[in-house]
Amino acid sequence: METEQKIKEIKDKAVASIEASKNSDELFNLEKEFSGRKSEFNNILKGLKDMTEEERRKVGPAANSAKNEIAAAIEKKRQELLASSFDFEAEKIDVTIPGTKKDVGHLNPISIVQKEIVDIFTSMGFEIADGPEIETDFYNFDSLNIPKDHPARDMTDTFFLKEKGLALRSQTSAVQARYMQKHKPPFRIIAPGKCFRNEATDTTHEHTFYQFEALVVGEDVNVGNLKHIAEVFFSEFFKKEVHVRLRPSYFPFVEPGFEFDISCLVCGGNGCSACRGGGWLELGGAGMVNQNVFTAAGYPRNKYQGFAWGFGFERLAMMKYKIDDVRLFHGGDLRFIEQF
Ligand code: FA5
Repeated sequence: METEQKIKEIKDKAVASIEASKNSDELFNLEKEFSGRKSEFNNILKGLKDMTEEERRKVGPAANSAKNEIAAAIEKKRQELLASSFDFEAEKIDVTIPGTKKDVGHLNPISIVQKEIVDIFTSMGFEIADGPEIETDFYNFDSLNIPKDHPARDMTDTFFLKEKGLALRSQTSAVQARYMQKHKPPFRIIAPGKCFRNEATDTTHEHTFYQFEALVVGEDVNVGNLKHIAEVFFSEFFKKEVHVRLRPSYFPFVEPGFEFDISCLVCGGNGCSACRGGGWLELGGAGMVNQNVFTAAGYPRNKYQGFAWGFGFERLAMMKYKIDDVRLFHGGDLRFIEQF
């Protein structure tokens, strides 16, 4: 009688706590407490074997039915908790609500333009060459056929360093001899990179800007190759047909040397306000490599011919994105950068 009473008490307590439990953790602990191996209830069941036949007949069925009731209560609660754990109303997604804008980084248009240029030239079989931003007199000047005390040293306003014989590179042409000393023709390369000039800044001039040099050398490279490759590149870059015009000019490292123009991107060459009626836009310098540059790099005189050019990234980006002040590129104004 005493044991039966005890069983009932345990069962009532178990069922009440199970019904009152609020989450699956609580339920798990109650299950352990009331029907686990170490539970009070289990101890009673274990003691059955020591009871008299008569006692066992009473206690046995009572214990069994209590056990079943507890198990049923647990299962019922588990289903209830499961059903209430997913709130369909709260989880409903309205796909028509506008999203929240996340702040993401932006590429500087110069980086975008550089990637496009590199992609186009590598697809034409060009290699990418590199050189240091702090250069020696030799690569900056001597190797480019600009002897000491020659007025051409002043053609670009160079930032000289205190250390004798060093300067910030003023043009990517400085990469030419560096590459040629290590490679034998034929080859075609472009050398994109940062340049520095000690000049007053305005809408088209920065003290720090980017150029890319092209250098194609072989035994029979000619001006026609220069013009053709440039036209293919610019047409690809601006996604429209672009023509090239070469005007005689002077750079110590090329002979003949040219100023390099492309047909106006707005009017195609007929003349409009964007090209001030001329039909052409000036883009950079170019020419056939002077033989003195080849000999400075260790090549025999008159064995090879090559063409070279140097264009400014900023000018290309200004044309592509219709930007009217070069100082915007490196000014660090986020309102500008965030547009790309
Ligand atoms: C040169 O720098 C020659 N090295 C180009 C060259 C290479 C000629 C190979 C022959 C053979 P120039 O100083 O004109 O040339 O500069 C070339 C281009 O660099 C300019 O057309 C312009 O697009 C860009 N550039 C030059 N100075 C600046 C500056 N201060 N700010 C922004 N872009 C500049």
